[in-house]
Amino acid sequence: MAASNYEKPDFWSIKARKEGYPARSVYKLEELDKKFGIVKAGSRILDIGAAPGSWSLWVLKRLAGRGFLAAVDLQALGVSPGYDNFYFLRGDLYDASVKAALAERGPYDVVLSDAAPATSGNKGLDTDRSEAIVEAVLDYADEFLRPGGSVVAKLFMGGGQRELLDRMKKSFASARAFKPEACRSVSFETYLVGQGKK
Ligand SMILES: C[S@@+](CC[C@H](N)C(=O)[O-])C[C@H]1O[C@@H](n2cnc3c(N)ncnc32)[C@H](O)[C@@H]1O
Repeated sequence: MAASNYEKPDFWSIKARKEGYPARSVYKLEELDKKFGIVKAGSRILDIGAAPGSWSLWVLKRLAGRGFLAAVDLQALGVSPGYDNFYFLRGDLYDASVKAALAERGPYDVVLSDAAPATSGNKGLDTDRSEAIVEAVLDYADEFLRPGGSVVAKLFMGGGQRELLDRMKKSFASARAFKPEACRSVSFETYLVGQGKK
């Protein structure tokens, strides 16, 4: 039996299982893409916090063999996508050698991040860690994103959203927060979307 209501399979988890995705989070990306037009044919994309691999699998299906996807996570992927235009690195996004390996495969048209800290139960600590991840993802975007490119980064909502959007507005033509319907109703996550890198 599920330990809490939060873990119960819902509509999105059941749909993900049926469609061969290891996580329900794929529908958040699908919704973000529908709204913002993020993933375009032939793009070079970086997926940060990629495990178990739903976003990567979805992007690879969309790219259909054209373009390139690099992905990184602390954990191994739960899927073997089996595409030649895919590179996965197991490591920490804060690690300089990881950053260098991903830089070598750039520049990118899109930087995606669904990365999230392991939750501690202390909301303040978890949101601080999530904000730090978003700052690091924006550093990646500053360094490896092509002009005109887009960034999508998951954020646990705390007090830092305004500052992060202000930072994004300096380097992107548009920056806004969006919470997909596929996010669990109890979840305090949102996605920051920057488009049109200056
Ligand atoms: C919600 S999951 C991502 C789900 C993924 N988008 C999918 O669709 O399968 C968040 C991931 O962020 C990863 N993560 C958290 N901190 C990280 C770090 N410092 N470096 C790399 N990955 C990290 C976790 O290991 C975890 O797999």
